[in-house]
Amino acid sequence: MAHRFPPAFLWGAATAAAQIEGAAHEDGKGDSIWDAFARVPGAIAGGDTPERAVDHYHRMPEDVALMRRLGLDSYRFSVSWARVQPDGVRTNAAGLDFYSRLVDELLTVGILPWLTLYHWDLPQTLEEAGGWPNRDTAHRFLDYAHAVHDVLGDRVDHWTTFNEPLCSSLIGYGGGEHAPGRMEPRAALGALHHQHLAHGLATRALRGRGAENIGITLNLTNAVPNDPSDPVDLDAAARLDAIWNGAFLEPLLLGRYPQLFLDSVADHRFAEFIHDGDLATIAAPLDFLGVNHYHDDNVSGHPLPPETPPGLRPTTYARGSMFVGSEDLTFPSRGLPRTAMGWEINSDGLRSLLVRLGQQYPQLPPLYVTENGSAWEDVVGEDGSVEDPDRVAYLEDHLDAVASAIEEGADVRGYFVWSLLDNFEWAWGYDKRFGIVHVDYDSQLRTVKRSGHVYAEIIRAHRDAA
Ligand code: NOJ
Repeated sequence: MAHRFPPAFLWGAATAAAQIEGAAHEDGKGDSIWDAFARVPGAIAGGDTPERAVDHYHRMPEDVALMRRLGLDSYRFSVSWARVQPDGVRTNAAGLDFYSRLVDELLTVGILPWLTLYHWDLPQTLEEAGGWPNRDTAHRFLDYAHAVHDVLGDRVDHWTTFNEPLCSSLIGYGGGEHAPGRMEPRAALGALHHQHLAHGLATRALRGRGAENIGITLNLTNAVPNDPSDPVDLDAAARLDAIWNGAFLEPLLLGRYPQLFLDSVADHRFAEFIHDGDLATIAAPLDFLGVNHYHDDNVSGHPLPPETPPGLRPTTYARGSMFVGSEDLTFPSRGLPRTAMGWEINSDGLRSLLVRLGQQYPQLPPLYVTENGSAWEDVVGEDGSVEDPDRVAYLEDHLDAVASAIEEGADVRGYFVWSLLDNFEWAWGYDKRFGIVHVDYDSQLRTVKRSGHVYAEIIRAHRDAA
């Protein structure tokens, strides 16, 4: 398979600060909205918290050595805003120092740092000041981006402003399942627009400071009409596409929101959030687009039959409704096999998504798959090894899909598996394991799973062939 990728293809693995670092209150770090949310009874499965996570903060050199053993070209990580600016304003040198040491460690072993500024962990003080629905948060983000760039800009080339803004706006403020756990449709829409604005402001500023590789990561889907001959399902798929994909891609690439999205959210007076000049700021040129993809969405405009098992709806992150402006959509099962998250497995969806993006948007920058992976109920064998054949199959099939997409003309330059390590899976706590490296949460012992060995072998074979 390795020979099917271009010689310069970048192989990586991804994590996020709140999911792995732990040390939630060390060296001056303030509460993020996820620290606060974890204290709300019932918010996180099992009452889990990000307090310790997988203790990466203290084990960073060991984890970088592990990345090196796997042969990674690049490591995608995020910076915790509340570590860098505990109250969202004042900069904490000790917090920045952690990332400075991480970047040095990576560069020493020849691994390219791929930095994300926002992977969902807003400082709690900024949430108390209104959070993302408050326009001022976009300007606070710009200050934060400056603070990080001041210290890391000499060594970090690849900057991602936001990871999956859909989740941190619509799910966090509308669906209530993610921090800060609000269920306010209008606030969710304000959050969406202000995150776009923050992205645009930071992109322009980083570019002005000489950064040359600036992008954003979106979670994009294929909205599949459950019955393609049924106009109700076709309409449902079009609305899902407009809110899930279009409300992100179009402002970023074309400087406008899709009309269908504007129509769907008109009742919430969305347009009032948009000030003169915002869309031009938001559409600042991108050097790459990160694509996160785990599953398609098979969607219908009809109610689900009442006997549908709860585990089969919906297929997205949310346990409840989150589709502001399209709350009536349903997600019938297609009968495909599912991962431990309940997400459908259909690797061809990744191929068609990557190909379609280039066809739909002539102005599309190069693509990187910045996340793709699967959760399974891993079993540690008596000899301590972890055989994870389902994850291996998922990985191989999805890499095949990426290779096919490239053969069909998609400009995909790299792939980051989610995730390097088992970690804190947000509202699911530690229950769902995505790592290619197993973590024993008591001892913090790391064990490369079979999938990790397979991935390392694929990378090695590619390098030998290139
Ligand atoms: C996307 C998110 O960026 C990441 O944080 C999460 O753990 C994975 N998907 C799996 O749900």
